[in-house]
Amino acid sequence: MQLVLDTDPGVDDAMTFYYAHANPGITFAAMTTIFGNVTVDDATRNAAWLVQQVGGATQVHAGAAAPLAITPNEPSAYVHGARGLGDVDIGDFHATPDSEDAAAWLVRAAAAAPGTLTLCAVGPLTNIARAVEIDPGFVGNLAQLVIMGGALDAPGNVTPHAEANFWNDPHAAQIVLNAPGGGRVVVIGLDVTTRIAFHAADFDALALEAPEAGGFLREIGQFYMRFYETVTGSYQCYLHDPAALIAAEMPELFTFEETPLTVTCEGDRIGGMSRRGGDGRRCAVAMDVDVDAVLARYKEIVALND
Ligand code: BDR
Ligand code: CA
Repeated sequence: MQLVLDTDPGVDDAMTFYYAHANPGITFAAMTTIFGNVTVDDATRNAAWLVQQVGGATQVHAGAAAPLAITPNEPSAYVHGARGLGDVDIGDFHATPDSEDAAAWLVRAAAAAPGTLTLCAVGPLTNIARAVEIDPGFVGNLAQLVIMGGALDAPGNVTPHAEANFWNDPHAAQIVLNAPGGGRVVVIGLDVTTRIAFHAADFDALALEAPEAGGFLREIGQFYMRFYETVTGSYQCYLHDPAALIAAEMPELFTFEETPLTVTCEGDRIGGMSRRGGDGRRCAVAMDVDVDAVLARYKEIVALND
């Protein structure tokens, strides 16, 4: 699988990075960065730092700094840490991203090799919406677009109804979920990701198997689990973003409902809410998951690091 990860690292984004990097079935072509958990500058810095840590060749293209239309929400420092990597301070590391802007690069890369790229989008969808605006056939040029975002029957995680990635740019989500043309769009939302709990013992296992990568993830995971403890009462976190990438390569671990989706764009109470219906394309929305298999797969692949 030729992978592009659109990402706002972010603890679970970094967890996804190490999964992608070590995966023998993935050629990790690029990361495109986006505001969300952190500013886009910090997302770019963190992405480039992760690539440097593993000595990888993954390109990094900086993306949008703000949503298409709404007033930007504050970065989620209380969830992911002040600069996105929990309590870990990567010092004065300066990213030198590849020169081409994320949306322009995405359009060009997809058009250059139609049907080849898997785009896994695990942040607000602003870069992807811009790509669709530049080239309405963009999604049709991908092998698949797999999105971490939204909540149908599950409650939201930033408001009673909204999931964070859709909430941070609902107009972008609406554009992407209604993109014209062919191509497969898969949506992995809170209906499944909040069933995939990851515990301190799981981080310990990663650190044992892959001391550098796993040790780092265990360190940043402490902040993330402390946040979720305030929400769930349990010292754990969820594999939101890794679940989207696992769904991209092993869809058989998920049960999908085929439906168009509508994202509410306005309103403090319901902005960012996703629901079934509308005139848009049919998306494959995950509604059930083999939790044990996803957890086992995640740990098995991350253990291949180092
Ligand atoms: C999503 O929001 C971010 O906090 C996570 O990285 C994930 O992409 C979960 O709602
Ligand atoms: Ca994310």
